[in-house]
Amino acid sequence: MQAKITIPRPDDWHLHLRDGGMLEGVVGDSARHFARAIIMPNLVPPVVTAVQARTYRERILQALSPEVSFEPLMTLYLTETTDPDDVEEAAKSGLVKALKLYPAGATTNSESGVRDFDKVLPVLERMAQIDIPLCVHGEVTDSDIDIFDREAVFIDRVLDPLRRRVPGLRVVMEHVTTREGVDYVMASDSDIGATITTHHLIINRNHLLVGGIRPHYYCLPVAKREQHRLALRAAATSGDIRFFLGTDSAPHATDLKENACGCAGCYTSINTMSLLAHVFEEEKALEQLEQFASRNGPAFYGLPVNETRMTLVKGNTPVTFPQKISTRAGDVTVFDPGFDVFWYVEAD
Ligand code: NCD
Ligand code: ZN
Repeated sequence: MQAKITIPRPDDWHLHLRDGGMLEGVVGDSARHFARAIIMPNLVPPVVTAVQARTYRERILQALSPEVSFEPLMTLYLTETTDPDDVEEAAKSGLVKALKLYPAGATTNSESGVRDFDKVLPVLERMAQIDIPLCVHGEVTDSDIDIFDREAVFIDRVLDPLRRRVPGLRVVMEHVTTREGVDYVMASDSDIGATITTHHLIINRNHLLVGGIRPHYYCLPVAKREQHRLALRAAATSGDIRFFLGTDSAPHATDLKENACGCAGCYTSINTMSLLAHVFEEEKALEQLEQFASRNGPAFYGLPVNETRMTLVKGNTPVTFPQKISTRAGDVTVFDPGFDVFWYVEAD
């Protein structure tokens, strides 16, 4: 018997679409499977104001084929000079669904991020009042903290104190990669959520480093030890309402990744749903896929679950994905899970 599963159409709660030729080349891969996505604002220059978010949203919609329906949910990049009134207006108009906190220097295009958290307190307090969530890149940037410890240290030094200082602020711990991150979310109330990427359910740090350095597995936060990957799998497949899919699909041109100083980011928009079906089946939790990919995210963001549906089918032969996609900004290497995948998305 052929295995098959139908779920409400999924959403991607953490996505990088970039701009210009890259945007044009990648947006279709997300729109094919996802109804909505939270769009990361780390462009150069970053999307800081409501006006910038509005024009970026228009560029995204323009890059889509007219027949596809895909709703970009915009975010603003939190800086030390973000104006609380601009945030409130952007949130109330429905344009902006979250703000993104990058500690300065933590990841790709994060230079305009926050250094002094006191400076952003007025914005965070306003966000708590009007109930717009803060999406957090949860890594400290201190040079004396080992890169594999940066998430766990962030929770103790930054995230927990911040949440205590601004009660009522709802937070998404983005792309959680550690057991400590999972435990922190599980021990908290419903005012915290966490996104988990597809690739962190599949790779650990050995995949990145054993037998040669694999630049296409390099992303931030960097993949951790196996015990952490297993904790992420347990959380994603648990059905716990606080965990939801954010692919963090982050396209970079192949030559910028296969480089002496390679960029961080894995490109998974095109094969995420097949890979997730594989992972959830492996964990004997296929029935939880809809919680993770289609229900928990909308619940956190106070949005309806999509009415349209998606069917995933397990075929008898491995599904092939392109190794690379081409864009006007160079080709992008697709994330290779390193094993055969038999699940595919049935055409509408
Ligand atoms: C992201 C990017 O390239 O913009 N890279 C990544 O490795 N995830 C930035 C981010 O989300 O940290
Ligand atoms: Zn990201």
